[in-house]
Amino acid sequence: MKDISKMKNLKFGLIGCGRISAKHFEAFRQIKNAQIIACCDIIQAKARQAAREFDIPRTYSNYLEMLEKEILDAVIICTPSGLHPEMGVTAANRKINVVTEKPMAIDLESADKLINTCENNDVKLFVVKQNRLNPPVQLLKRAIDKGRFGRIFSANATVRWSRPQSYYDQAEWRGTWKYDGGAFMNQASHYFDLIQWLIGPVESVMAITATLNHDIETEDEGAGIIKFINGAIGVVEVTMNIFPRNLEGSITVMGENGTVKVGGIAVNKIQNWEFKDYDDDDKLVESTAAEPISVYGSGHLGYLQNVVDVLRHNAEPGTDGRSGKKSLEIILAMYQSARLGKRIFLSDNNQQRG
Ligand SMILES: NC(=O)c1ccc[n+]([C@@H]2O[C@H](COP(=O)([O-])OP(=O)(O)OC[C@H]3O[C@@H](n4cnc5c(N)ncnc54)[C@H](O)[C@@H]3O)[C@@H](O)[C@H]2O)c1
Repeated sequence: MKDISKMKNLKFGLIGCGRISAKHFEAFRQIKNAQIIACCDIIQAKARQAAREFDIPRTYSNYLEMLEKEILDAVIICTPSGLHPEMGVTAANRKINVVTEKPMAIDLESADKLINTCENNDVKLFVVKQNRLNPPVQLLKRAIDKGRFGRIFSANATVRWSRPQSYYDQAEWRGTWKYDGGAFMNQASHYFDLIQWLIGPVESVMAITATLNHDIETEDEGAGIIKFINGAIGVVEVTMNIFPRNLEGSITVMGENGTVKVGGIAVNKIQNWEFKDYDDDDKLVESTAAEPISVYGSGHLGYLQNVVDVLRHNAEPGTDGRSGKKSLEIILAMYQSARLGKRIFLSDNNQQRG
């Protein structure tokens, strides 16, 4: 990685000025000595609108031109999911660090190409997994790391949300296999990430998926079973068909000496916290609850601050490419299981924590 620790300002470029980009622009208002100096959208009016709203100096409609003309330390990719790897590879080949929105890719071949290109060019790859930073999730992770659960027997991730057809109709990439994936790959991907990050390496999965209530190619409903290497069994339940609004986004961990449910609409409050033995963390349960402004939560600021700290050699990446790939591999294995009606075993990448 090029030595940028002594530079005063880190310069970022952002590609894709759609819904999630606002979280990035807003976060950079609060991050010191780092700036988004250019933004790009294939629809130039969207780039200009973002530039006006967030004071971004320059706009582009072609990301290659932005990479050519700007001197960037890192690029943030907020385009449709299927475009992330190609854009990341292009940036990495220009020695620009890469921050990609989740999912990093929607197939393993291009995810590997992105990881390898970043490594070969000695640039960092960050995959945005901001839900890991939700305060209740952090508290749960700490309880697991302290061994408070004893043996973990089972875990559950539930995503009971509502997406009207108009949500899918607002952009052509949504609900397609080529650029998006379904409810597992898009809306629930953080929950697949959390369950593996919390419980540990995954041995195998099984799933059933269906498209029940929307005119889209991909699934809007599904359920999966996970067998973890440590013997625990996980259940993931995902639907975009809840009447009339989002009901729940939760993770539950059930062990020998403890039971915790982090729920709310999007893993934003602790709904059950019981352990055999007392720990001072028990006093923090109430204070972690937060009403999220949206299901995206408020983790982008912390996530991007970590990116800046890593680029200044002051921190380890919150989620790097290899860690970001784990949930992708689990989701793709579930899709394969649903297609073939078979249990699918995962590769070595998922045998390590991260
Ligand atoms: N971290 C999270 O919680 C979270 C939340 C929402 C979305 N996302 C991810 O962010 C990505 C974008 O989602 P969104 O909801 O913002 O979508 P969106 O459709 O609102 O925005 C995508 C933008 O990319 C632009 N674009 C498309 N092709 C382009 C190209 N070739 N060059 C430049 N710009 C291009 C589009 O014009 C659009 O403005 C997706 O991968 C999604 O999974 C992550």
